[in-house]
Amino acid sequence: MVRYSKGAFRELVRDYDVDIAYTPMILADVFKSSAFARQDYTTNNSDCPVVVQFAAHNPTDFAQAAELVAPYADGIDLNCGCPQKWAYKECIGAYLSERPEAVQDMLHAIKSAVNIPCSIKIRKHPSDMRKTVELVRRAEKMGVDWITVHGRTRHQKSTEPVDYEAIRLVKESVSIPVLANGGIFSISDADTMYYKTAVNGVMSARGLLQNPALFAGYAQTPLTSVEKYVNLALAYGTPFFILHHHLIFMLESVMSSVERKTFNCLSSTPAILDHLLFYYGIKCTL
Ligand SMILES: Cc1cc2nc3c(=O)[nH]c(=O)nc-3n(C[C@H](O)[C@H](O)[C@H](O)COP(=O)(O)O)c2cc1C
Repeated sequence: MVRYSKGAFRELVRDYDVDIAYTPMILADVFKSSAFARQDYTTNNSDCPVVVQFAAHNPTDFAQAAELVAPYADGIDLNCGCPQKWAYKECIGAYLSERPEAVQDMLHAIKSAVNIPCSIKIRKHPSDMRKTVELVRRAEKMGVDWITVHGRTRHQKSTEPVDYEAIRLVKESVSIPVLANGGIFSISDADTMYYKTAVNGVMSARGLLQNPALFAGYAQTPLTSVEKYVNLALAYGTPFFILHHHLIFMLESVMSSVERKTFNCLSSTPAILDHLLFYYGIKCTL
């Protein structure tokens, strides 16, 4: 998740039964050409398995970026799902979910460039599921190791229900593992997804931001996970605004509206630590 699924958060969710963690989407052209941009991705021995996700609009950028990162990654994913207008204009993200040939070319390039597992993360086609089926079949032929499908179109809001039928169709159209994404906020949501689509796994985004312990069966963020996250974030040198945003998500279900107003206005890491000590007895030191 852009801005969020960095090292500290990946380490946190692994403690709560997440099997595979992805990096935020990284622009392949910037990554391959800028040593400075490459510093934004760091990993370590416990960050495993980690999938590095790239956004790319041509095979060369994608393959070169993947080649650079492959020694430090367990898998490479091509983002074919980002719905933002700027991304569509740049011919990346969800633009690719409507362009099976372009995806095929990029997968051909990456399969020749690296020798680690590769995947794509797609959205359902806005109007014609036959195009989605064509896309996933081509991807399978090109040798991707799994496919993640978000059961909403790029035009849909994340509050709209996911299309289980579309996800099931993707699952039935290929023989490789399929992961389902969209609307997983609890173990019971994951069970419903398995039941309705027969997929091989599920991926959660907003659910995990709100409750990093969801796959371990917690109904809401345990305070121990807040403490763990803050200690990890401090150890990783996480910038204030990322720490702050994560805690706003994690504490959403716990904070009263009055407390939330105070918390949202905090402007430094020491102020956050004071707040956590005062309201929750959570002791973390810089
Ligand atoms: C803050 C945020 C950042 C996201 N960043 C990415 C990203 O970098 N790559 C990606 O494939 N999807 C990204 N997404 C989309 C999610 O992966 C997911 O497809 C979408 O939120 C639906 O899943 P959910 O209902 O579990 O949230 C992001 C979503 C959110 C809320």
